[in-house]
Formats: sequence, C-alpha cells, structure tokens
Amino acid sequence: MYPEESRFMTNFIRNAWYAGCWSDELESQPQAKTILGEELAVYRTESGVAAAVEDCCPHRFAPMSLGSIAGENIACGYHGMQFDCAGLCVEIPGQKNIPGRTKIRAYPVVEKYTLVWVWMGDADRADDGLIPDLHWLDHPDWTAVTGTMRYDSNWVLLVDNLLDLTHTTFVHQSTIGTEDVANTLVTSERVGDIVTVTRIMKDAEPSNFYKRVGGFEGKIDRWQKIWLDPPSTVIIDAGGVPAGTSDKYSNDTYGGIDTRIISVLKPVDDGTVDQIWAFARDTCLDDAELDADIEKSITHTFNEDIEFLAGQQRNMDKRPDRKMLNNTADSGVVQARRVIDEWLAADASPAFATPIPAE
Ligand code: FES
Ligand SMILES: [Fe+2]
Repeated sequence: MYPEESRFMTNFIRNAWYAGCWSDELESQPQAKTILGEELAVYRTESGVAAAVEDCCPHRFAPMSLGSIAGENIACGYHGMQFDCAGLCVEIPGQKNIPGRTKIRAYPVVEKYTLVWVWMGDADRADDGLIPDLHWLDHPDWTAVTGTMRYDSNWVLLVDNLLDLTHTTFVHQSTIGTEDVANTLVTSERVGDIVTVTRIMKDAEPSNFYKRVGGFEGKIDRWQKIWLDPPSTVIIDAGGVPAGTSDKYSNDTYGGIDTRIISVLKPVDDGTVDQIWAFARDTCLDDAELDADIEKSITHTFNEDIEFLAGQQRNMDKRPDRKMLNNTADSGVVQARRVIDEWLAADASPAFATPIPAE
C-alpha cells in the first residue's frame, strides 16, 4: 500500500484527525478544502464554532462552499436550504415540511493548537485526545511562524522527506544544510507507534540559518530529533549550543537555540499533499523582524523540496513495479512506513472502516 508500489493505490488512513487549515484562516465565508480526496466546506458559525460539511448540497449538488453562514447554520447559495453543524436540514425555503432524512454529511471538527482539525473516519471514533500534542503552538513561552506549502506528491513521500534530513545537505545548502548532517549516522527507534530519528552532531559547522538566528561564531553541538506522530504529523526538535557546552538533553540550563519545526500533513489526493507547517521557538518572542526572516527562510527551504518530490512522484508513476532502495539513513523511514502500513491495514478492517453515509 506504499506509494513506492503505485500512486494509484490510495493510501489514506481515514480514522484520524487532519488539520483542515489554521484557525485564523476561517472567516465568515465557507471555504472549500479537499482532504483525503473528499471535498468539504469548512466554516465558522456566527457564535464562532468551527464546522465542516460535504461540499455538495443534497438538493441539486451545488457546492456548499459557495453558500453563506446564517447564524449557527450553513446556507446553500443556490436555493437557500440550511443545515446545522450536525448536518441536519433546518430550513427549506418555500416548504414547511422538512423530511427527517434531509441531511448533509457533517464531519467532526475540533479547534486545538490554533488549527482546525477534521475527523475523516467513523464519527463515533472521533476522540480529540487523539490529536497530536502540538502545545508549542499556543504556549505563552513559545511563538510560532506558520504557513502552508503544497507538494505534487503522495503524502508518504513527504513523511520520508521530513524523517530523513540527510537531504538537507544537498537540497538546502543555502539555508540549513551542512556537510555534517549527511555524514552523521542516525539512530532510530519505535516506541508504541511513535517513530523517532535522532542525529547528534558534535563540533559541527553552524548552518547559515543557525549563524543568523543563534549568533554562533564558532563550531556548535547540534541535534535533530524527529518523530512521526502517526498518521501524518512530523515534529523536528532541532537546536544547537556552542561546541562543548553540552546539549539540552543532558543539561536544562543550556544556552542555545531551541526550536520545533512542525509539519501537519494533509493528504489532498493521491498525488497532492499540503504541509501545514510551523516553526516554533522559545526565544526572542516579540521579534517581528526575526519572524519575517524565518518565514522567508523556511518558505525558501521547503520550496527547494517541491521539485524533488514532484519528480519522485512522476518517476514512480512511470515505474509502478519498481521498488526503492533503502540506505542506512532510511532506518527511521522504514520503521515509519511499517507503522503507516499497520494503520492502513487497521483502518481498512471492518471494525474501523468508514461507513458509507446514509442517503
Ligand atoms: S442546490 Fe442547494 S438548495 Fe438547491
Ligand atoms: Fe527539505
């Protein structure tokens, strides 16, 4: 079920939370969002509740994203039918009687960590305790620069990319890449379903980005600890201290850079994924100039990945029977794909499978 076998074999895990968008993107107008190939209208009611329905009115199939908000309901823009957040029809203009079965599919939605999360599977299984821990996004001791990038590739290729940062040495030479990254062995481990990849670089040359943000003049001890919170959230704990002054894992009072680069992946369709990203830091919280620099640098960095992932996808599409190679640096990638495979199998089993919504 991996994209390395074929992009045409859909590898979506439906019983999971996906970030539809950032909370502050939801305005008074419903918005069209595609998640796991399903088209949704995501909106906020007048009292501020975030909600999502299928982007297809059950009447004549007009997109609900062309409609509007009417109090706590969403109104279709074509003939004015209204539905509440649970999907129940509450108004049919010119018709007194509303048949009880008149509904639109509604998705469970929760706002947490400044993101709008949508549950794409069986609504009975939607438990907001399953949303990954991203507390850095709204903790008063942290600040985050945020954005969204789109890649023309299957979502699993982006999980690979984020778990194996060896590519930074080559793809991101101008920003975060240094020789030491590719030359340092990684360790990887799986605890439960969380896969962690760790790379500790002692006495390393700081990247241009680290020099700029950390003000380092000499060499540094640098770490990258990356984990996949399945199915599709990848968190990179990256930081550095002047060489020889220990790191935060052995000394809490270190004086260096501490950051989290968070990627919440939203599979749009088989060959498209959105990376909803945040770069969180616990220093210089009110430095707008630094925010602007980080945004520029991160956007530039992720842009460098775009053509590689699109090219991988094109090559895979042309060679559906060929397998990829796994190098030593791919140990975490291999374990992550195993977890994803297990989740796919569980998701497809009758106990988890998404029921077809009632007509
Ligand atoms: S298509 Fe929506 S009310 Fe007619
Ligand atoms: Fe990259």
